[in-house]
Amino acid sequence: MTDNSGEGFMEALQDDSVAVVLPAAGSGQRFGAETNKLFANLAGVPLWLHAAARLGSRREVERVVISVSPSDLGCFQDQLRQSAVNCNVEFVIGGRERSDSVLAALKTLGSDSAIQWVAVHDAARPLVSDDELSNVFGEVPRTGAAILSTPISGTVKRALAGRQGCETIDRRHLWVALTPQVFSLGLLKQAYGKHNGRPATDDAQLVERLGHQVTLVQGSAENLKITFPEDLLLAEAILARKSKNVAN
Ligand code: CTP
Ligand code: MG
Repeated sequence: MTDNSGEGFMEALQDDSVAVVLPAAGSGQRFGAETNKLFANLAGVPLWLHAAARLGSRREVERVVISVSPSDLGCFQDQLRQSAVNCNVEFVIGGRERSDSVLAALKTLGSDSAIQWVAVHDAARPLVSDDELSNVFGEVPRTGAAILSTPISGTVKRALAGRQGCETIDRRHLWVALTPQVFSLGLLKQAYGKHNGRPATDDAQLVERLGHQVTLVQGSAENLKITFPEDLLLAEAILARKSKNVAN
């Protein structure tokens, strides 16, 4: 079935047409552990393996490319070997900024003709659900770019530059970007080709700069990024509740 109203084709993603890119080359400064936060234990499994396993087991996913820092590579390989994850995982060396790490993974994908789509997902987001993945994979063919995101729930203030005080921002159209962020491979490569080191806090921003429409797909606030130690406690609690629901 094709959709003539947009640029894309409203076909479901084909099996094995997606490469997952997991940027994991940070150092977890704010988490404050001696080693990368991604090695922390979450429900008996290293943090990063949660996302790798969930994404890697999808029928749409053919490759999982993980950007790591040179000093962490050995530990990632050891933890993978000791795990039950049996999808194709490749490691590449990441860079100084998250965008450098994503670019390194994109270069590894080269011109793999089997890959039509790239799903970039923070390795530090262990709780992405299968429903969220189905929704964002389902939406991306429409425009070639779709990201999980969640509406802002609090009241948003902007501090007034150079003065005391603040003003309130209308939150009705404000969303917080989550991951995965899914793009056609060609589009994301084009966006990175024009990056030129201009600061960007997510991949969708680079695609927006091309003037290309990015679709917001509502995800769950539970798809949190582990940044501070207390985030890990919250993730443990969410996982415990989820496994209880499955058991009942
Ligand atoms: N990341 C990366 N390459 C970098 C920086 C970050 O691949 N140069 C990855 C992290 O490993 C993480 C994701 O991008 O999986 C989101 O980044 P963040 O949560 O900020 O992790 P860190 O940069 O490791 O943490 P911090 O900013 O506290 O140091
Ligand atoms: Mg960081």
